[in-house]
Amino acid sequence: MGASYPERVFLHVTETRSTNDDIKKMIYSGDNRFAVMSADSQFGGRGRLGRSFLSPDGGIYFSAVYPLSGREKNIPFLTLAAGLATAEAIDDAAAGENTPTPLIKWPNDIYIKGKKVCGILTELVSVGGHPTAIVGIGINVKSFGENCPAELKDKITTLNDEGIFPDKNSLIRSVTERLDRLVYSEMVLENVPDSVLDALNRRSFIRGKTIVFSDGDIKKSGIAASIKRDGSLRVITEDGDKFVKFGEITAIKAR
Ligand code: BTN
Repeated sequence: MGASYPERVFLHVTETRSTNDDIKKMIYSGDNRFAVMSADSQFGGRGRLGRSFLSPDGGIYFSAVYPLSGREKNIPFLTLAAGLATAEAIDDAAAGENTPTPLIKWPNDIYIKGKKVCGILTELVSVGGHPTAIVGIGINVKSFGENCPAELKDKITTLNDEGIFPDKNSLIRSVTERLDRLVYSEMVLENVPDSVLDALNRRSFIRGKTIVFSDGDIKKSGIAASIKRDGSLRVITEDGDKFVKFGEITAIKAR
C-alpha cells in the first residue's frame, strides 16, 4: 500500500464551459488544493479526440486533480481506473435494484445495455516540472427525452432510463474515493494488481466481440481480448495479436 493523501476539497458551480478547464486554470494559477470541481451543466463540455460532450442540466459533470510523483510508469491506466471506479460506484448506487451492470468500453466509456452512459477525459499538464493529471467524468443521469439529438438516440442512455436514481453528490464522492484509493493507496499507476486487472476485464463491454481499430493509418479488425497491465487492449487479428494503445474502437459486433 502507498502513501496517505489529503482530504478532497469539493467545489461546485451551476454552469461552466468545462470542469476540466476549471481545474486546469486552478493548477496554472498555483492553486494546489486537492480539488474536485463539479457543475450542473457545461456549455463547452469536451470529450476525447476533439469531440464535444453533451452536458445539459440533469447530468453529472466533474473533474478531479491528480498530482503525480513522476515515478508513475503507467499513466494511461488512469483512465481505465477511472472507468472501473465509476462503474463500481454506479453499481453501488443501484444496489438492491434489479439493474443492468455498467460495462467499460476500452478505453474511456461506460455502457449500459449497449448504450453509452458515461465518458471520461484524462488530460495531463506540467507546471514547474510537476506533472498533474486531470480526470473529467461526465455521466448522463436525467432522461434526455425529446431533447436527445436524433443522431444520438440509439447510442446513448441515462442512469434514470436504466432505472438508477442516484444522489448526484454521493455518486461524485463515491467515484472520487474509489479512484483516489486506486491511485494513491493501491498505486495502480506504478503496478496494477491482478485483482484490479481482473475486475476491469470482467467489466469489459467489448471482450470477445469483433471490433475495428486503427493500426497507424490503417483500419483493421479483430476480436477484442483482454486489457493488459500497460493499459493496452489485446486484439486477436488474422496477422496475430495486436496491442492497441490509442484511438477508438468501432463496429462492435458479437462474434
Ligand atoms: C468522451 O466521451 O470522450 C469523454 C467525455 C468527458 C466529459 C467530462 S464532463 C466533465 C469533464 N469536463 C469536460 O469538458 N469533459 C469532462
